[in-house]
Amino acid sequence: MRIKSPDLLVAESGADLEGHGLSRSIGPFQLVCFGIGAIVGTGIFVGLSDTVAEAGPAVLVSFVLAAVTCVFTAFSFAELGSAIPVSGSSYSYAYAALGERTAFLVGWCLLLEYGVSVSAVAIGWGQYLNELLEHTVGLRIPDALAEAPGHGGVVNVPAVVVMLLAAVLLVRGVRESARATAVMAVIKIGVLLLFCAIAFTAFRAGQLTPFAPEGIGGIGAGASLAFFSFIGFDAISTAGEEVKNPRRNVPLAILVTLGVVTLLYCLVSLAALGAMPWERIGGKPAALSLIVNHATGSSLGSTVIAVGAVVAIASVVLAVMYGQTRILLSMSRDGLMPRVFERVSPRTSTPVANTWIVAVVFAVPAAVVPLDVVLDLTVIGTLATMAAVNVCVIALRRARPDLARRFRVPLYPAAPLLGIAFCLYLMCGLPLLTWVQFAVFVGIGSLVYSGYGRKRSRLALSRARGGPPAGPPPAPTPATRV
Ligand code: ALA
Repeated sequence: MRIKSPDLLVAESGADLEGHGLSRSIGPFQLVCFGIGAIVGTGIFVGLSDTVAEAGPAVLVSFVLAAVTCVFTAFSFAELGSAIPVSGSSYSYAYAALGERTAFLVGWCLLLEYGVSVSAVAIGWGQYLNELLEHTVGLRIPDALAEAPGHGGVVNVPAVVVMLLAAVLLVRGVRESARATAVMAVIKIGVLLLFCAIAFTAFRAGQLTPFAPEGIGGIGAGASLAFFSFIGFDAISTAGEEVKNPRRNVPLAILVTLGVVTLLYCLVSLAALGAMPWERIGGKPAALSLIVNHATGSSLGSTVIAVGAVVAIASVVLAVMYGQTRILLSMSRDGLMPRVFERVSPRTSTPVANTWIVAVVFAVPAAVVPLDVVLDLTVIGTLATMAAVNVCVIALRRARPDLARRFRVPLYPAAPLLGIAFCLYLMCGLPLLTWVQFAVFVGIGSLVYSGYGRKRSRLALSRARGGPPAGPPPAPTPATRV
């Protein structure tokens, strides 16, 4: 079990160097906006209809269960982020706490949390684009070119297009700044509140009964799907280096963000369920626009919702794809992934080949796999990595009690143990087929590690040489922020 010490991780990242370059400029309000910007996207705008199909009106309980899972895990992210402030997220934490093989598998599962997730988000974007085109120019992209095979389509062109556009921006070094993300957060909240205001005008309380037509099982399955709409909250803990007074502000922002988002999701669900019977919402594309159309009988409100969704979801595509490229870059620098992923273009200072590989590879599921399948895979992969993050907290507290931690998980060890339990509970709500796909995916990852990563690991090579464990110093990858 090769462990990379937290001190080495930090030294390699340059995070402890003077003049590291990151100024502590983000206050608690900005941090909450940043969190909302990273979280709110396809999950609520599109995934809500699938969640409602599982749980019925009890979808409200499903959202709360998913949020509680996130709170425990977010504390663990915050502790690890304060002790090991490097990029690479859960992959790096697992390398320090659980060893190289587990770290590789966590990194491999991050391909689901980020890569497959970007496919899911892009599919959701396509649904609202179609809605927008219909309301503005009276045209819809035909199903053959906007849906996956088996769902009346051949290839999902809009999903592929938005991913390729995001890649063009990322290779040019364009990504969202904290300010742009904050603007996005305001747009997202504004659009969702507008939705609530319109949908509540058609509210009929009788539609909320029976409250849990699919029983406890439906609520659990709904919570697993609802979890997708919370993915991205770890972004708050990874911004720790740029936050003023992180010990206070990071946990505060986590709780406030999750509180605001949960409240928003519950409000949206309540408004939706009161405006239209749950059976008619379940599984429908671009459901929020559909509900507004139904509530008002006019297409104006639904057009505004569709515009907001198209803008909001596009920003999530950009952010998630960026995250995937940086995780592969970290793994490649450790020798666990092919070196092509660490190559940074001298012209743009961005990992060009890495970005195009990510865009093209994950455009394939976006093009031909239905949304529910990629969504379930994203959720199971994310829950697995998050369970691992909770385990990392416990393992590191035992192995390195001396490590400086600016933030410590409250109620230790109850909180990380509850985090693990909730992650496993939500994983249990996923279909058997998703578990089989996940097992095959992890099996392939294990083979890739044994056949490739284990032999090329830079940590292993440097230890075999008896020298100080070293990877190449990370090349800076500055980005033009918009
Ligand atoms: N939470 C993100 C979304 O819902 C992944 O789009």
